[in-house]
Amino acid sequence: MQTRVEIADFENWRAVAEDAAKVLKGGELVALPTETVYGLGADAFNADAVAKVFEAKGRPSFDPLIVHIAGIRDLQRVAVVSGELEVVVRQLAKAFWPGPLTMVLPKHEDVPDLVTSGLPTVAVRVSKHEVMRLLTKELGPIAAPSANRFGRISPTSASAVLAELEGRIPLIVDGGASSNGLESTIIAVEVGEKRPVLRLLRPGPVTREELQKFGKVPRAGRVTDDRPEAPGSLDSHYAPEIPVLLHDSPEEFEPEDGKRYALLSYRGEARDGYLDRHDWVRVEVLSPGKGKLAEAAVRFFHSLRNLDAEGIDAIVAEPVSDVGLGSAIMDRLRRAAFR
Ligand code: TXA
Ligand code: MG
Repeated sequence: MQTRVEIADFENWRAVAEDAAKVLKGGELVALPTETVYGLGADAFNADAVAKVFEAKGRPSFDPLIVHIAGIRDLQRVAVVSGELEVVVRQLAKAFWPGPLTMVLPKHEDVPDLVTSGLPTVAVRVSKHEVMRLLTKELGPIAAPSANRFGRISPTSASAVLAELEGRIPLIVDGGASSNGLESTIIAVEVGEKRPVLRLLRPGPVTREELQKFGKVPRAGRVTDDRPEAPGSLDSHYAPEIPVLLHDSPEEFEPEDGKRYALLSYRGEARDGYLDRHDWVRVEVLSPGKGKLAEAAVRFFHSLRNLDAEGIDAIVAEPVSDVGLGSAIMDRLRRAAFR
């Protein structure tokens, strides 16, 4: 299969969206830009199209997909939400939609079981990206997981999607680099005894601190079998081909003779001299000088992907601060490093 890439710029994005709509209506897949990472979209109500998502990604069928809708008005098409649950969902939607928050809610029977891997719940989000907004408005709900092969680094640009899925899908819409750079925060929303309970299934751009205003935010537990509660909860995920060595103190890193290493640095400052401790083949700096987490998040997957293509023995990674958005980056980094 030939993979076309269409660039959606200011002048033609409506025409590109129309073309993408045709492909999606025909039951085929389109990789689409969102503000978090690129998604691999299929008509959410077309089970045959959804099956192609699992096939193209090489994704196991027990790992459910996120459904993208145009706004809160479409929520009842995919989820069943009423009473106290509706109150808290509306508050959260008002605060964070469109944006990088995914809510896991009781599923509507119209959503094919394949989308939710047979779970009674469905994960729903509203993207801020114009192309996704227009398409969901025109077509209705679009199921879209990140547009990478299973277990690999999430794509934050059209070229990254091409590297992952060329020949496996007919169309990629290039809507520029993703502005958040990390996948959405996923919460399971439940009515608690006193306050709503927002179980954090995957940390992301909407931080735990921001969510705490709306309810209790306990960390997700694990389900009993080896099926993860959310994908991010697989120990190994977001994995480059080359080993990632996460060093709490990179200055103590001891290179092995004859091996070639690259460094993934947070600030790129020579804290205790680790920057010149080794003859790094390449150094990627997530937030040059300033140590800003938002900037580090945007560059994270892109930098990891660059280093992965360097033909080296290992990537040595420096941790970022494990607070706020940093927790979401550290979550991805730990899984990238897990072997
Ligand atoms: O930012 C994002 O969320 C991106 C963009 C494309 O929207 N999407 C994304 O999808 O990261 P994905 O499939 O890579 O990760 C979503 C994960 C699924 O793997 C799944 O484990 C979890 O969300 N999920 C989906 N439905 C769920 C459900 N009903 N209960 C618990 N977790 C669910
Ligand atoms: Mg993913």
